[in-house]
Amino acid sequence: MKIIEIHGLNRHFQSGDERFHALKEIDLEVEKGECVILRGVSGSGKTTLLSIVAGLDHPSSGEILVEGERLAKLPDRHLSRFRGRHIGMIFQHYNLMEHLSARDNVAVPLIPQGLKMPELKEKVDRAMEAANIAHKAEMSAGRLSGGEKQRVAIARALAADPEIILCDEPTANLDRANARRFLEILAKLHAMGKTILIATHDPIFEELPFEARVVEMENGTIVAGSKSGSR
Ligand SMILES: Nc1ncnc2c1ncn2[C@@H]1O[C@H](COP(=O)(O)OP(=O)(O)O)[C@@H](O)[C@H]1O
Ligand SMILES: [Mg+2]
Repeated sequence: MKIIEIHGLNRHFQSGDERFHALKEIDLEVEKGECVILRGVSGSGKTTLLSIVAGLDHPSSGEILVEGERLAKLPDRHLSRFRGRHIGMIFQHYNLMEHLSARDNVAVPLIPQGLKMPELKEKVDRAMEAANIAHKAEMSAGRLSGGEKQRVAIARALAADPEIILCDEPTANLDRANARRFLEILAKLHAMGKTILIATHDPIFEELPFEARVVEMENGTIVAGSKSGSR
């Protein structure tokens, strides 16, 4: 089953008289359970593409379907609910609330779901176990190390049990030991059947312990890997 389908997608940015063509005629299909590495130098359009998949930005033209939903057709409030249920995001800057405990950071995005306390706690605990950070649950986020902060961000992304995990330069602020730990967590998510998209130019992803598809981006176009099986 195709979980993400992108056809003829363009994104222009207008600033003053300048019109910048950041994504050009992008075609990309991702199968459920696949891991896709979006690789390309800085400025090639990786973050712009991930933002569009997350429904945080919209294409100027073309089509994007996520889990069969045409994102462009969803009104904003439905879009944020859709994102909350189906998409987990892990970004380079972890965006944690530093004065809250690790546990509360993970719980915050679940609040709109209006769960009963035991169910909320179970979801938070499960996500923290999966991200190997359960032992720091009560510590305030501001006191955690960089690697630990990222694991809290991973747990937060997993809490609602989304099908799709988007990672933007996830290892950029990690030392190599923590970057390798991140690859192990990805392997676990992959084994759980999650669909994973990672934008990165970190060569450490060549050490990924499972098969992933590399999609090469250059100047806003995909130059290789746009279809499953086309490695
Ligand atoms: N909001 C914006 N307004 C104008 N230009 C932008 C905007 N967002 C991104 N760009 C431009 O689009 C190009 C691709 O950016 P980005 O997707 O961030 O690339 P990458 O993540 O691969 O480094 C860059 O040249 C960037 O300057
Ligand atoms: Mg980027």
